[in-house]
Order: sequence, then C-alpha cells, then structure tokens
Amino acid sequence: MTNTTSFPKGFLWGGAIAANQVEGAWNVDGKGLSVADMATYKPNVDNKDFAAHMHVTLQSIKEASEDKSDKWYPKRRGVDFYHHYKEDLALFAEMGFKTLRLSIAWTRLFPTGEELEPNEKGIAFYENVFKEMHRLGIEPIVTLSHYEMPLALAVKYNGWVERRVIDDFVRFANVCFDRFGKYVKYWLTFNEIDSIHRHPFTTAGIIQEKSAEGQEAQDIYQALHHQFVASALVTKDAHEKIPGSQVGCMLTKLMTYPLTCAPEDVELTLKKNLENNFYADVQVKGEYPARIEKDLENRGIQIKMEEGDRKTLKQYTVDFVSFSYYMSMAESADPNAERTPGNTVLGVKNPHLPSTDWGWQIDPKGLKISLIELYDRYQVPLMIVENGMGAVDTVEDGKIHDPYRIDYFKAHFQQMKEAIDEGVDLIAYTSWGPIDLVSAGTSQMSKRYGFIYVDADDEGNGTYNRLKKDSFHWYKEVIETNGASL
Ligand code: BG6
Repeated sequence: MTNTTSFPKGFLWGGAIAANQVEGAWNVDGKGLSVADMATYKPNVDNKDFAAHMHVTLQSIKEASEDKSDKWYPKRRGVDFYHHYKEDLALFAEMGFKTLRLSIAWTRLFPTGEELEPNEKGIAFYENVFKEMHRLGIEPIVTLSHYEMPLALAVKYNGWVERRVIDDFVRFANVCFDRFGKYVKYWLTFNEIDSIHRHPFTTAGIIQEKSAEGQEAQDIYQALHHQFVASALVTKDAHEKIPGSQVGCMLTKLMTYPLTCAPEDVELTLKKNLENNFYADVQVKGEYPARIEKDLENRGIQIKMEEGDRKTLKQYTVDFVSFSYYMSMAESADPNAERTPGNTVLGVKNPHLPSTDWGWQIDPKGLKISLIELYDRYQVPLMIVENGMGAVDTVEDGKIHDPYRIDYFKAHFQQMKEAIDEGVDLIAYTSWGPIDLVSAGTSQMSKRYGFIYVDADDEGNGTYNRLKKDSFHWYKEVIETNGASL
C-alpha cells in the first residue's frame, strides 16, 4: 500500500445509473412506455447470448405493449429508485460520492415524445432528485438518452430513422436545460452512441422488421446521423442556456488487441479500433472521418444530409469525452479463433485474460491503454462513466463478501492512477451500478454490479431492502483518501 495519490484535487468519484434500470414506476405519474419497457426477462436463454436477450420483433412489442403487468419486464420494476431515491442518495453520500451519473427518462417528461408541453409530475420527480443531490453535495452528470426513448416514436417512425425525431429530442433536451439547468452542469447526450449497430432498438428505437429488405444498414447510419445532429444542436442549446455547462459524448470503449502479430491480425484490429473511434471523431472533431465516408460509399450507403448538417456538426462539438469500459477483446484473421462475449459484442478470446461468469474478459491494463489513446487522440478531458463487474453475490447472515469486486476495481483504479501520472486529464470516474440494478443486456437482477445489494430476484420477488456489501466500505475509503488508500 502506498500513501500517495495521483488523483487531482476535486476528482469526481461516484457511480452511474440509468433511469430504466433503476427507477421502476413504469406506469406512474403519467409516464409513457419506453423501449426499455419492452425488454423481457428470458430465463431459458443462455446468459452469454446477449443478442437473443435483446432481440425484439413487431409481435413481441405488440404483446408487451398490451401486457400491463411487470412480471416478465424487470426494467418496469428496476429497483424502485422512484420511491427509494432519498434512501439511495443517502447511501451514496455515505460512501462520499462527489458525483452521480443518472439519466432522465424521456417518457416521464414526454410520454409519447410528441407532446408539446412536458408532464409536470415527471419534472417534479427529477427536481426533487436534483434538490436532494444538491443538499448532499453530489454533482449530477446527466445522460439525456440512455436506452429509453419513447416507444411511440419507435413504432410510428422507426425511431431515429426519421429526421423529425430530432425536433422531439431537442424539445425534450431544452425542457431539461430550462428546468434542471440550475442544478446540472455536466450533460451527456447519447449513451454509447456506437451501440446503434449492436442493438438498434434499444439505442435508437429501430425495429428491424420495419426496414426495407437490404436497407437495414442504411437505416442505422441514417438514424445515427440524426443522433449526431441532435447531439450537436443540444450541445449548442446547453451552452447558450446554462452558463458554464459542459457537454460530453459517450462511447463504449471496446479495446481490441491483435491475437497475434501477424500483419493480417494487426490490420483487422486497427480497423476495429478505428471504427470504435468513429463516433467520438464526429462529436469531438466535428466531421465524419474520410475512411468512414469511403467505407459507406463502397457499401452503397448514402446518408441523407440536409444543408447545414455538416456545419452544425463542425460548430457544436463536445467539451469532453466520456466512455464506458468493462472489458477488452482480441481480433484474428482466423475464422476459427475461439470467441467470447463482451459488452454486447462477440470478440476473439484473449488467452492472457480471465473472464467474468458472463464471459466478459477482465483487463485493467486495457483501461490505461484506452485512457492514453483517447486523450492523445482528442486532447479534451476524459470521464470514465461506466466500469464494473457483473457478478453473482451471496448473502450470508445479512453480509455480502465481495472480494472479487474489490479486486476488479482496485486493479482498474491502479491503472487510472498510472494513466494520470503519464499526463492523462481524467476528471471523473463513475462505477456502473453502485447499487444493484437490472441488467441492460439480459434484464437480470442477479447480474450484480453494486456496492449496495438490493434484495430482489430476477422475477421481482424480494423486500427491495438495501444492504451494504464489503465493497461499500472499501470504496468509501478510496474516495475519502482520493485514491491514496489503493
Ligand atoms: C453499458 C450500458 O453498456 O453496459 C449499461 O450503458 C449497462 O446500461 C452496462 O447496464 C452493463 O451491461 P449489462 O448488460 O451487464 O447490464
């Protein structure tokens, strides 16, 4: 143990949650249905098969919309943060959180996305949350869109494929700035904007059956373009409306290594990593990289742009880059190379790394490499806004011993420290799911990330009581000493 710390004074330590994975209260106080309310818990599907878990069809959406219960829809229940927020925020404050990343459910404010005026009851909920955070000295980092767009927009317009959704989103974002701007300085526009390719419905409301045959990729890039434009427009609005506000993009950092040093492996790996950077390239540098434009041309994909779009992207770029980091993977030219799942990706297995029970490869060094690479590439402050390990926890005599989680975090924090020592401007770290929540990928409760345990199972049984795990006390000390206890 050393007594030194590299973390800068004022470093924002905290945790991250998303409305649809914690709030519950899916049909309360005027909230409309969101795409997250369609996600079913599938007990008989292999937990490593994220694609099957996240798959929806027109028929499954119809059935889910008609089903008014939450039995098979855990995201409708979350962990009932809607009614427990004071208790949960108090626990975060007890751990010493300087910040909490959370999202605003679009459908609490605009139930179908097309209303012209917001639902005041939805506004009141978030106002209360922000007031309480302010009282506790917890700085909010707010995601405007985290996998929870109005279902009505998905069904009517195939989500972000239609340009008009930009206007609906800009209206929603502006209400957030007007009503919550006095509490919120840090904003993120789209959670893991790159994930549109991996789960288009969750990310952008795209129902694949609605795309004409052969047009699936075209629709995805069109929707992505609309999100880029919307992100730029609301960045401008936030800056104009909230003095001192900072807006960031948010990407899934999917670090990929070549399985071998064979040039073919290295080339494929380079392409993967460049593709992963494309989204931040647009949002930080304000333009589509030439290689992406060429690739789209080669694939016959033509993004419809309106006059002024390129100028908008160039003019209203983000202030910082935020990203999630859970795992890394390898790449190989050998089609038979062994594969393993990661965060909604199937990568080549790296023989040097251990994996979680869900197959995600644990790689703390990959976090340092990501930090160095991202800072060098973009030269703007960085935030790690998701990181953590999904694991099964057991309660014994009211206690949860989770040394595996402590080991995971400790190893990642050490790498963050090294990156800061090498000059990276890292300003915040929010662990994913500081309180257990419903998994985005598999809708399980039993895939736990928290420092705080929630007594609920995959089918919603339980008291929903909160219990502190061993890692709660450990993280508290890390924050208290600003990393010197590591
Ligand atoms: C990120 C998402 O990709 O990964 C979160 O932004 C999600 O919403 C997290 O919960 C972990 O994934 P999962 O599938 O384990 O919940």
